[in-house]
Amino acid sequence: MRVFGAVRGLRAARTAWGRWRADAALSARGAERARVPGRAEGAEPAPGGGTVRFARSSLRVSVSAGGTVFWGWDGAEPEPSYALAGKAPEPDPRAVLEPDTDGGWRIVSERVTVAVSRHGAVEIRTPGGVMLRRDLPPRWWEPVGGGPARWAQRAEVPADARFFGLGGRSAGPRLRDGAYRLWNTDPKGRFGPGDDPLYFTMPVQYVVADAGTHLAFHDNTWDGLVTLAEGEEGAGSGHDRPGTVEVRMEGGPLRCWVVVGTPARVAHNWAALTGAPALPPAWALGPQHARWGFGDAAEVRRVVAGYRERGLPLSAVHLDIDHYDRHRVFTVDRERFPDLPGLARELREQGVRLVSIVDPAVVAEPGDPLYEEGRTAGAFVRDARGREVRGEVWPGECVFPDFTDPAVREWWGGLYEERLGQGFSGVWHDMNEPALLTPFGEPTLPRSARHALDGRGGDHREAHNVYGLLMARAGYEGLRRLRPGERPFLFTRAGWAGAQRYGGTWSGDVATGWPGLRASLSLVLGLGLCGVPYSGPDVGGFDGSPSPELFLRWFQLGAWLPLFRTHSALGAGRREPWEFGPEVLEHARVALAERERLRPYFLTLARLARMTGAPYVRPVWWGAPEDRALRDCEDAFLLGDGLLVAPVLHRGADRRAVRLPRGRWYDTATGEAYEGPGQVLLDAPLGRVPVLARAGAVLPVAGGDGGLALEVWAPAPGRTGGGLVVRDTGDGWEPAEIERYQSRLVEGRVVVERVTEEGTSEAGLPVRVRGV
Ligand code: NOJ
Repeated sequence: MRVFGAVRGLRAARTAWGRWRADAALSARGAERARVPGRAEGAEPAPGGGTVRFARSSLRVSVSAGGTVFWGWDGAEPEPSYALAGKAPEPDPRAVLEPDTDGGWRIVSERVTVAVSRHGAVEIRTPGGVMLRRDLPPRWWEPVGGGPARWAQRAEVPADARFFGLGGRSAGPRLRDGAYRLWNTDPKGRFGPGDDPLYFTMPVQYVVADAGTHLAFHDNTWDGLVTLAEGEEGAGSGHDRPGTVEVRMEGGPLRCWVVVGTPARVAHNWAALTGAPALPPAWALGPQHARWGFGDAAEVRRVVAGYRERGLPLSAVHLDIDHYDRHRVFTVDRERFPDLPGLARELREQGVRLVSIVDPAVVAEPGDPLYEEGRTAGAFVRDARGREVRGEVWPGECVFPDFTDPAVREWWGGLYEERLGQGFSGVWHDMNEPALLTPFGEPTLPRSARHALDGRGGDHREAHNVYGLLMARAGYEGLRRLRPGERPFLFTRAGWAGAQRYGGTWSGDVATGWPGLRASLSLVLGLGLCGVPYSGPDVGGFDGSPSPELFLRWFQLGAWLPLFRTHSALGAGRREPWEFGPEVLEHARVALAERERLRPYFLTLARLARMTGAPYVRPVWWGAPEDRALRDCEDAFLLGDGLLVAPVLHRGADRRAVRLPRGRWYDTATGEAYEGPGQVLLDAPLGRVPVLARAGAVLPVAGGDGGLALEVWAPAPGRTGGGLVVRDTGDGWEPAEIERYQSRLVEGRVVVERVTEEGTSEAGLPVRVRGV
């Protein structure tokens, strides 16, 4: 796909060569001195814990009021941090550091116990004393001539533990034994399940074991490697081999947050720490269509008309770099899009929004207005000698805004005025790892490139992983300033812990094929556990042409994910649902209609994600992490509390096994009831994928008249159920209220009531009972 012209190829090769030369000094590893903490020599209490002094280091430990643990070696404090949403959480005043029996120290709090051994192992235990994780004493390697120290640390987790997280990984959601790099990377054109790392990495380990669930976050943006090895149980012999995690970082602080509890509590405390997910506008929960290479306004109109004429809903159309003038960001090709604001208005009247791609790279051409403006403002990343760092991207030779500089963020955010003026309703940030087009070497900025790092100063080794996050911050804050009445719609290819504060993400260039379909689900689930709930794949895959069956199965999966968008590469086959024959069209129509019917449920889940941190799309073990069979189930997911979706991920399948959590579940297509825990075999004809509803679930849906209605699934005898509803209050900032409904059986009849502080009352909404 990346066909370089001769000049371009030459320039790209020169960039790659320059990068290699610039970084040569950084890559050479000279003499180093290794260090370990040594023995504990004393401790000083501080709020929530204290500092333990070791012979050759010190360890700060504190427990916050919500039970979140922080520990940092060598004087590392929670701040500064690009992940934290605000100030670090308040320490728990009742948690105190006290001497432990073995010469170490411990902090006992309501939700968690932290024990520090005399050699510097940090053990996190449940209040009942069961071990969740033990981080062994770290080791540093300090360059003799000075400079950042690398470090490594091993942790042990229970033998039965399973690993998840680390951001968006294609080979999950359960992360098998192996090494996972922490370095946001464009896999160059397409990726499948084996490809790692990808665009959105995060040092967030999500660990699920019988003893409990925890999330461990190493707040360090440097390049690193996480090596996972699941443990092994000794079948009652008492000789369990614990699971291990080794984290190696090329530099940066050694500090960690550990969040413990049920998955819901972990999500809540993680969102409290790193920020509530941005709430997308309601229209962003509808079906969207993108394409690299629409060509022109007429083609956009043709596609939109195609949806309309077939009665298919469509919420947004995304314009890729081909609508730019010579691929230059914040411009429009006026020949092919002579009146973009007019086109936007016309589409808007049909209920379709326009979303614009925004790339960070700015063409380095004297006289180019954006380049000149940025240059005058000193906005672009420079090398150690003060020269602009250049690299080849779509428009040619480019420079790169330094988003780690607050003034640059503000400048860049202001540029979105042009996009709003063109009629766009949202933005899609791309190529922000940042990605360069290079024939060899790493396709990003040199490690030696300088960054402001919000006044601290540093180089790309530290700034790389937060480049996308900070571009998202710039865009989000710019949009809020420019259009204060509306919630921004933004999603970004690269990101890091905390990126949810500004928007969502998508799969990137997932390869067309059945493995790519499976990777799509892995990414959405993993990112959700790491706090980024709004995402989805390129439905149909990015490259090539999916078979009608593959396209349909992808479409059916996408319809149940937060971001539901078809997208494909320049030159790839079509992705309009009618391009795959009448049968696929009819089945796609059913998926679209169901998505629209459940739009109030998606809106509720979006609000709940913001209020509670819980992702819309959750692993099936979410409510029962102690169920080991569920922990190993990777081919289905829960959508909120009420639904279990079992997509078809294999060619030719028309039936599939579905693992059920505890309780009664109804096949929503047949109404048949099944009892969990256990596995059932369900029909999955081409027309649908199995979707099950939890007995007792109360789901907000669009009623026949388009108004809000409740769909209620009969509770199992002797049980009650319920659900939450948050009504659509528009695309602004109006606060919304959570409404609570309860379902129960009264003499064989299903009764639904609204529950308020005053008691229960009639539901006050049309109710449709299912499963009786
Ligand atoms: C790479 C992105 O991942 C893809 O979605 C986009 O179409 C191309 N860049 C072109 O902008």
